[in-house]
Amino acid sequence: MPLTVLLPKNAYSPGLRDLLTPLLPAGSTFADPERELDGLRGRRLLFAVALDEGGCNEAYYHMLSRLRRDADLLAGCVAGVVVTGVGEFYTKDVARDMVFAANQAGCAFLGRPLVEATGSLRNFRVQAQIGGVDEETAFRAAISELIGRLVTWEKPGPIRRILALHASQRSTSNTLAFWELVRRNLPPEMAVEEIGLRNGTVPDCNGCSYTACLHFGEQGSCFYGSGPMVEEVYPAVRRCDALVMLCANYNDALSANLTACVNRLTALFRQQRFYDKRLFGLVVSGYSGGDLLARQLISALNMNKSFFLPPHFCLLETANERGSLLRLPGIEGRAADFARQMEKA
Ligand SMILES: Cc1cc2nc3c(=O)[nH]c(=O)nc-3n(C[C@H](O)[C@H](O)[C@H](O)COP(=O)(O)O)c2cc1C
Repeated sequence: MPLTVLLPKNAYSPGLRDLLTPLLPAGSTFADPERELDGLRGRRLLFAVALDEGGCNEAYYHMLSRLRRDADLLAGCVAGVVVTGVGEFYTKDVARDMVFAANQAGCAFLGRPLVEATGSLRNFRVQAQIGGVDEETAFRAAISELIGRLVTWEKPGPIRRILALHASQRSTSNTLAFWELVRRNLPPEMAVEEIGLRNGTVPDCNGCSYTACLHFGEQGSCFYGSGPMVEEVYPAVRRCDALVMLCANYNDALSANLTACVNRLTALFRQQRFYDKRLFGLVVSGYSGGDLLARQLISALNMNKSFFLPPHFCLLETANERGSLLRLPGIEGRAADFARQMEKA
């Protein structure tokens, strides 16, 4: 299947175009995202952004602005991302911002959708050493692998098992009240499992060596050996077709309990990829900043841990006082729409 490459123009984009051209399948085309964002529905897309010395690309920002204004602009698209930098920073930041915006515009993303190259290509050192090649070759190989998965991607079977992870208190939490609204609209053939990870039940990742982590992971375990992660969460993640993260905004980030859980998924990730498991998020903030948590979910669970990102993966609301989420105008309709979307994903 041919790809459509969205390449925002700047001084560095011709070099990226030259790099990509021989790696693309026959019939692929380049589109100018400043003029040609309409009419892309249903396509396989490769976003390719070359950043300048300041970590910016003005044409990319015009595209971002367009994506953020239209919830259906990229309906039916599935995409991957390549971002290159001149310096060492901003490639991941730009990528997850763009993935969030495009996802809110209806675009799905592969698990591990990003190939990034910092200016020095230092981020490819380990992969280059493993492959016995130089960094440039490892970078090209990573793009080829991404393009291969994008071209051959097929929609996974219907969602039958959902795992919802939270770290909230049922009697007071707006986030759990939100989930309850969504959950009651899910069809009966979707089995729902919920796991609550409250204070201290999940110690954070120990940061073992790669080989130690692999060794424990092969036994379905982790350095800690027992506890809710090993006994409940790992088996439930293995079983599920969709993971729903229920996230209260704590200082513009996931709570420590949920962050520890995500970190601890590393041992399971050493064993398997989650390409067919869909990721959803419900985010509730007291004041603002829900988009920061959505981006955190994208970089941690979609880009790093390889969960598939279905269109409109995250629903974000603002409610602070206890019980106030249920009084938000239109909340029941939005929750029901989200449940229907989960069914179709
Ligand atoms: C420790 C802590 C930190 C918080 N930080 C933020 C924040 O940075 N921004 C914000 O909008 N709300 C913040 N809130 C408010 C919650 O996001 C808010 O209460 C929301 O309703 C979700 O929490 P709940 O599910 O426990 O009700 C914070 C709440 C707590 C307890």
